[in-house]
Amino acid sequence: KSAPSVLPSLLLCDFGDLKGELARLEDAGAEVLHLDVMDGNFVGNLTYGMPIVEGIRRHSDLPMDVHLMITDPLAYAKPMVDAGADLLTFHVEAVDDVAAVAAQIREMGVGVGVALNPETPLSAIEPCLDIVDLALVMSVKAGFGGQKFNPVALDKLRSLKQSHPKLLLEIDGGIDATTIGPAREAGCDLFVVGSAIFKKDDYKAAISVLDDAIAG
Ligand code: DX5
Ligand code: ZN
Repeated sequence: KSAPSVLPSLLLCDFGDLKGELARLEDAGAEVLHLDVMDGNFVGNLTYGMPIVEGIRRHSDLPMDVHLMITDPLAYAKPMVDAGADLLTFHVEAVDDVAAVAAQIREMGVGVGVALNPETPLSAIEPCLDIVDLALVMSVKAGFGGQKFNPVALDKLRSLKQSHPKLLLEIDGGIDATTIGPAREAGCDLFVVGSAIFKKDDYKAAISVLDDAIAG
């Protein structure tokens, strides 16, 4: 998938009409879906697991970028792959050996991403950066949609872009028409968006405003 791209986050969507939401997102031009899996333990919020991921797979052919905000990512990695995940991103704060976890997910035949919260230093993910496909720089603390953008993410993106120019860079949290441009300038490729799409009635218009802001 060629970057840059806006990835709708299925956290604030209407789960009572998932099929309709998927159709609206595809019609709006979404090319990749971002799925927020939370366990009520690693973060203080609980969302969904394999049955929903599998249900989304049945109603959409779009690649699924699964953001695991869970205490034991390896315990659910294989079930998520079986449910149809194309890329699994785990949080460095949840694991002891970041390179070993990345390598084990890689062996499952999917893309691998590593995520870090705003308070976590880049040095924490350094040991796995040559193994992973993507680094997910959180611009809010993982757990909830609708939080305020933390610009510390921009410094991390710039630094990663410089040290690992081929790594895909993704940002998540508080991305809207104002923050997406600076994230692009900092070297980001993939922009996860919740509120700035799902709080709007017209997803196509919302995504095109974001695309325009990326283009500058
Ligand atoms: C937060 C999730 C995000 C969230 C983004 O923990 O990882 O994907 O849905 O939502 P907004 O765009 O509202 O910050
Ligand atoms: Zn996310």
